[in-house]
Amino acid sequence: PLIKDLFGLTELEKGLKKILGMRRVTVVPGDSDRSGWVKQEMGKAGARLLKQLARPDQVVAVAGGTTVAAVADRMTAAPGLKETTFVPARGGLGEAVELEANYIASLMARKSGGHYRLMHVPDQLSADAHETLVKEPHIQEMLQVVRSARIIVHGIGDAKTMATRRKSSSALLERLEQADAVGEAFGYYFNRNSEIVYRGRSIGLGLEDLEKADAIIAVAGGSSKAEAIAAICPAAGRDTLITDEGAARSILGRR
Ligand code: G3H
Repeated sequence: PLIKDLFGLTELEKGLKKILGMRRVTVVPGDSDRSGWVKQEMGKAGARLLKQLARPDQVVAVAGGTTVAAVADRMTAAPGLKETTFVPARGGLGEAVELEANYIASLMARKSGGHYRLMHVPDQLSADAHETLVKEPHIQEMLQVVRSARIIVHGIGDAKTMATRRKSSSALLERLEQADAVGEAFGYYFNRNSEIVYRGRSIGLGLEDLEKADAIIAVAGGSSKAEAIAAICPAAGRDTLITDEGAARSILGRR
């Protein structure tokens, strides 16, 4: 039997597929809240899938965070990826540089031998500045490229953790708490019913753009993200989830 079966991981994958309505689920052993290597394993699984799915001349849009960064870390040169253009899914979201989508897109390109294009948009824009910037021809062109993505790779965060990590104002923290936000992805915050309760003002891929993609790969694990994953998967395309045993057991256990 497969090692996976011995751990009961295949059962967890089946259970999550059913409960979250996903097309593809991979569960790696362990809980990334407890051991760092588990995130590396999710990274490995993500890199492997990207290699399998690669087609010439495709665009891959990537979001930020440590888990998508782990995917980038594990990427290696592959023929299909050489003709891939990696782009950030959205402009800045207020993360440390090495967790920003721009940086991760460039890292994926370097590791896989592909190309990248960046989108330089500051995160904390006023409404006026945002409106002006979106109209810039360079940004417009870049947005078209981003929206043409064949594959999208994104992380999922616990709402409070993400809002704090991005140094959100106390007003926003309070607003998210009142709205019962549990998860975050692409700068969108969701409640338990998979409804958007807050959307930041960054520029890039919107949820409405996900439908056009061939594959939407969410990479997120750790039992602390169980609620966030359960809330976001149904809202973000119901396609592919790469997670860990910690999150999987906790999601299945609470149903
Ligand atoms: O939007 C979700 C976050 O980027 C996830 O970040 O992978 O570091 O937990 P993380």
